[in-house]
Amino acid sequence: MRHIHIIGIGTGNPEHLTMQAINAMNTADVVFIPTKGTTKADLAELRREICERYLTRQGVRIVEFEVPKRLTQDLSYGQSVDDWHAAIAGIYESLIGDLPATGTGAFLVWGDPSLYDSTIRIIERVRNAGACTFDYSIVPGITSIQALAASHRIPVNLVGKPIEITTGRRLIETGLTHESTVVMLDGQQAFSQIDDPDAEIFWGAYLGTDNEVIRSGRLGDIADDIVRLRAEERARHGWIMDIYLLRKGRDFED
Ligand SMILES: C[S@@+](CC[C@H](N)C(=O)[O-])C[C@H]1O[C@@H](n2cnc3c(N)ncnc32)[C@H](O)[C@@H]1O
Repeated sequence: MRHIHIIGIGTGNPEHLTMQAINAMNTADVVFIPTKGTTKADLAELRREICERYLTRQGVRIVEFEVPKRLTQDLSYGQSVDDWHAAIAGIYESLIGDLPATGTGAFLVWGDPSLYDSTIRIIERVRNAGACTFDYSIVPGITSIQALAASHRIPVNLVGKPIEITTGRRLIETGLTHESTVVMLDGQQAFSQIDDPDAEIFWGAYLGTDNEVIRSGRLGDIADDIVRLRAEERARHGWIMDIYLLRKGRDFED
């Protein structure tokens, strides 16, 4: 049977790769690299660099494929995502179908495959469709949450307290409800719409890469600076990935 490795590669630093990830890549006949158009060419480039640096077994092929854009017009969010996953599943199916009958393929996934990533869902979808039979396994990777915490030298949670992990869109809907809230996928700078000036923010963009930039402080003092900096960085690179932790309260406080 064919086998697929879904490999977490960390968030921008090639040294985020674990020994398990490197070993899994080297068992593959083919490593699949997604490309996302010119603005995020840097991300495909990092995956190429990872292959160059860590593939030591002769004969491992690299196959690049273009990820389709998500169409949103006249569609609900759910329908738009479902259609998008169906389109990607079609691509995965033909990539996997092209493997030899007992071949191994590897998908390199940004960060960790379990966190705001749909590779596992889409692979399950392909398997359930039944057109090609294969098994798969997951290799965990360093997430952007861990990269953020490491760069700021902070624990993510307060002692004995829970953490919420959410998106910018949700944060705007719900407001700040937890003492520690990690916000990802935020194209709207939701933090600047939160009316909680005494909360602390720990923000980071391009974490793990040479372009990494971080800021922290009282939200009321630095929200505007981060909005400005984010816009400048985005204009400079043509794209941005950022993440932040919003914290209210202190360790050992009830
Ligand atoms: C589609 S999610 C993928 C998350 C990924 N699976 C992980 O484990 O971090 C993309 C979001 O992750 C965050 N992110 C990923 N890499 C990042 C990085 N190097 N620096 C800052 N944020 C990052 C951003 O919030 C971005 O919008």
